[in-house]
Amino acid sequence: MSYFYQSFLCDVKSLFLRQQEENLGAYLYSTPNPDIKDDPANGEAYYLEIISQNLDYYLYKEETQLINDVASKIATYVPAESNLIEFGPGTDIAFKNKTLPFLKEIKQFNSYIPIDLCETYLEQSEEILSRELPNISVQPIKTDFIKNVDIVKNFSLPVVFFKGSTINNLSTNDCINFLGKISQAIKPNGILIIGVDANQNESSLRKAYDNSKVAKFILSILYYINRDLPISDFDPTAFNYEFNWVAETHCVEHNVIAIKEQNFILDGIPRNIKSGEKFHFLSSYKYPMDYFKNIAIKAG
Ligand SMILES: C[S@@+](CC[C@H](N)C(=O)[O-])C[C@H]1O[C@@H](n2cnc3c(N)ncnc32)[C@H](O)[C@@H]1O
Repeated sequence: MSYFYQSFLCDVKSLFLRQQEENLGAYLYSTPNPDIKDDPANGEAYYLEIISQNLDYYLYKEETQLINDVASKIATYVPAESNLIEFGPGTDIAFKNKTLPFLKEIKQFNSYIPIDLCETYLEQSEEILSRELPNISVQPIKTDFIKNVDIVKNFSLPVVFFKGSTINNLSTNDCINFLGKISQAIKPNGILIIGVDANQNESSLRKAYDNSKVAKFILSILYYINRDLPISDFDPTAFNYEFNWVAETHCVEHNVIAIKEQNFILDGIPRNIKSGEKFHFLSSYKYPMDYFKNIAIKAG
């Protein structure tokens, strides 16, 4: 079993055995198996649907506008000969509308290194960049950038571009820990450019997240588990999605609730879950700006 599937299994086991929670964010962007007709483990396409078709999903639109407004200014911080490392470039439209405008503003850089778990997104970013900026070498890497931050150390003068609010999957402590590791890995001359959503408005959060498109996206993890992990007698259809905003911790919880009792075996371990049992799959924390600045300072 590959390192990725070992991690996937380990995270899913610890979630269903209630040793950990909010740890499945990295497994949202599944690629469908072409041999399965209409494979519902298709997170990569469901995410594209959210950002391109859900008018209330403000994150993508707002950040696209923001990056286009400030790209030339941020580009002036990027030293010549940098290696531009992007954590999670995402869909082709995100690459075209957010990454590319920024890269085009940088006068000179050595290479672009997209790091993502989703192979489709990596291939798309490579294909678009080789057309748009043919002189830049592209080195896509398929790995988990949260678990393997040190990969940044392989590149001289790293500029880590980490937008799309992906950092918001991490709780405060995990954020401090992760940013602390990046801060060490980019020393002495590297830069981190990070995009964080600070929205605290429950009504706008609810419109963005509490809908059928997001539900389909989150629930696709269950089909991914059923398709690729050693699990038997599991019914991925028997769950509902629940959005929950916890203002005190600035957390949008993405929960999954069993709608019937079931017995399944996960990696040899029997598990009984009752109807109504809730699992906190992942989170989108919405840290206010000052709060996030403090996190960054604590992380060094
Ligand atoms: C919220 S999307 C953001 C996409 C893009 N940055 C944007 O601005 O639209 C998160 C991206 O990061 C990738 N991703 C999420 N967690 C990851 C992890 N732990 N390791 C590697 N890739 C990850 C996903 O596949 C996806 O491309």
